[in-house]
Amino acid sequence: MTTAPDKVASEAAGFSDAEFRQLAALARSEFGLSLAESKKPLVFSRLSKRLKARNVDGFSAYLKLLTQPGEDAEKLELISALTTNVTSFFRESHHFHTLREELMPELSKTARAGGRVRLWSSACSSGQEAYSIAMTVLDCLPEASKLNVRILATDIDPAIVRRAREGRYHADELAGIPEGFRRKWTRASGPDHFEMIEEAKDLITFGELNLISPWPFHGPFDAIFCRNVAIYFDQETQQGLWKALTEKLRQEGILFIGHSERVSGPAAGILSTAGVTSYRKCQGAAATGKN
Ligand SMILES: C[S@@+](CC[C@H](N)C(=O)[O-])C[C@H]1O[C@@H](n2cnc3c(N)ncnc32)[C@H](O)[C@@H]1O
Repeated sequence: MTTAPDKVASEAAGFSDAEFRQLAALARSEFGLSLAESKKPLVFSRLSKRLKARNVDGFSAYLKLLTQPGEDAEKLELISALTTNVTSFFRESHHFHTLREELMPELSKTARAGGRVRLWSSACSSGQEAYSIAMTVLDCLPEASKLNVRILATDIDPAIVRRAREGRYHADELAGIPEGFRRKWTRASGPDHFEMIEEAKDLITFGELNLISPWPFHGPFDAIFCRNVAIYFDQETQQGLWKALTEKLRQEGILFIGHSERVSGPAAGILSTAGVTSYRKCQGAAATGKN
């Protein structure tokens, strides 16, 4: 993404190295984001739009604005500009196979016996990940919505969480959903669009959550999907995140991560491989969550 014209433009527009470093420090302290020097042109091109939108003259002024009280919404715009919301139904489909084969037989038994089942899509973007989990659960446990089965789906970006909650998508995205699932859990919704039906929506609770701030719930979760978000964080933040997520997993619960991510730090010692980029919490490892 680093192109010569962007580089020239960022220099010509007076986005100095010092301003870039200040911005990178803020992105790191507030959101754990890691911005290498090589990302300067990309950051310039993405943030130029924010400067225009806020009618701010230059990056120093924008930095000043970001640190003023009452600018939380702008901070979220900043993180939106520096990360992507790219996602799709059944992305990394092996994870849904692992969920179905490794967890659902036991979770179905638990739920049918009156037990509690909790799954978490922890950087859910526009919701395709959470709905893919919901369809997998419903396929294995058709009566899930009448049992104590819930999927929590969270993201830092309020606008994307609103879209996720709406559960309405362009018809082009239907291809990612297996034919039988499409017929059961989606319906047409206006020209070139479809939406998830209530049965799938009802299983999911959507909310805003910064993974790098304290979490206002206890868990424990039977499965946590934390995919394609840790890549944005520096190593220390990643290690802290893996540790915190693992603490929220119940024993034998499974953590699913993105294809280019690796669990490192203390969490790695209490996880064993469950499938491709999915890890089971070892028996005997403590969960801090409680009902
Ligand atoms: C590339 S999408 C991944 C979506 C989905 N998990 C997947 O793998 O298809 C990354 C998402 O992480 C969210 N995100 C970035 N930083 C975050 C943070 N600190 N806390 C929670 N979500 C964050 C972004 O808003 C974005 O929706």
